[in-house]
Amino acid sequence: MTAPAAGVLGVPWSAGVRRGDDGVVTVAGVGVHDLAAEHGTPAYVLDEADFRARARGYRTAFATAFAEVGTGVDVYYAGKALLTVAVARWARSEGLRVDTASGGELAVALRAGVPGAEIGLHGNNKSDDEILAALDAGVGRIIVDSLVEIDRVADLAASRGVVAPVMVRVTTGVHAGGHEYISTAHEDQKFGLSVNPGALDDGGDPPAMRALLAVVARPELHLLGIHSHIGSQILDPAGFEAAARVVLRLRAELAERTGVLVDEVDLGGGYGIAYLPGEVPLDPDRIAKDVASAVAAVCGELRTPLPRISVEPGRAIVGPAGFTLYTVGTVKPVALDDGRVRTYVSVDGGMSDNIRPALYGAHYHAEVVGRASDAEPLLARVVGKHCESGDIVVHEVMLPGDVRAGDLLAVAATGAYGRSMASNYNQLTRPPVVGVADGVSRVLVRRETVEDLLALDLG
Ligand code: LLP
Repeated sequence: MTAPAAGVLGVPWSAGVRRGDDGVVTVAGVGVHDLAAEHGTPAYVLDEADFRARARGYRTAFATAFAEVGTGVDVYYAGKALLTVAVARWARSEGLRVDTASGGELAVALRAGVPGAEIGLHGNNKSDDEILAALDAGVGRIIVDSLVEIDRVADLAASRGVVAPVMVRVTTGVHAGGHEYISTAHEDQKFGLSVNPGALDDGGDPPAMRALLAVVARPELHLLGIHSHIGSQILDPAGFEAAARVVLRLRAELAERTGVLVDEVDLGGGYGIAYLPGEVPLDPDRIAKDVASAVAAVCGELRTPLPRISVEPGRAIVGPAGFTLYTVGTVKPVALDDGRVRTYVSVDGGMSDNIRPALYGAHYHAEVVGRASDAEPLLARVVGKHCESGDIVVHEVMLPGDVRAGDLLAVAATGAYGRSMASNYNQLTRPPVVGVADGVSRVLVRRETVEDLLALDLG
């Protein structure tokens, strides 16, 4: 008997998700049948109160922890996880700033009314147009990612007659993700400038120090600080502490050599969430306390004043706030070599609305949300409708044995990197983003139409 219990569904669902006595799931008081009828499926559904609570939770946790050690902190919402005009407004109204990674993200944040001064611009290969758009908007920080780019930003700032506030993104040798972190001297990846000389060693400074000195040398640039992002979906705070140590030492060394003590250190994002029932997300209070005390301890050892800190959570704020609502189209039992049967449940979306299972082997949780069922559970694989056998939405999940065409099925915790990484593979139209609050649903980003697709094709 699998009739799911009525009540709050809990992890990994957003706080507003409940199952009624009739088995029908609601979010913030809106039933899934109403959502499907009004907006169609597939649809990304966002629980506004849950998003806001997580944004507030991160801001409060970090503000409290860093106030205790005697410095301030800014929390930037990492827009790459999901950026819409409404989402940017929610973030701002909860006291967050916005981290953007392209001219497009910058445009959305500006359209939302986020002041330039509260926006950061990232990217390892920003175009001149993107840099100029950032300068014209008066962004609070451009995070530079290479020596070439330092001169590019300085020249463009000179052309506009402004001084550009920049941070230098460094790689600390600390990588994290999943349940552990590793520390290596060298990083074989495209982002940042290494604190280690390695094979580039010509007896001079490592790339990170060269970049900092290059920024200091250009009067069109103001060196605001040092930036480090160590990875994503991190569940172990040790990596953040290790990276903070490296960055703070670099800051002290720069001060010793040049007299320039930068005001800020950005420790990036990456705070891990629960995707499956029973998983334990990183606790913002704990991570904030751990990082604050590590920062205070290292600054104490180095006898340098504390910098202002910033962090850039994306997934941890929007991931659990969203789920994807699908309609089941076909159900097909397939015999496995070990004698088991796996039931393939096809839904009306797939890898075009959530590439993460195919791209990273990411695991998700799904439930039949439109009704109760007493049927024995069966081992199911939820798949999409694309012309690709790797088009898997949920690798393995127990679903009611009577799962059938027309059932509404929801996949939890798809708020981050779902819509933002969506594609039009097989010319599918991207689903809408529907916000739900206080018993009302509202389209934040409308569903694409085939006309939208055809409008781009000039024949
Ligand atoms: N700051 C910087 C500089 C970043 O590169 C990232 C993510 C973040 C902040 C936000 O990280 P978060 O708190 O969301 O983990 N598409 C992948 C994740 C790529 C993240 C890239 N950078 C995924 O779907 O898991």
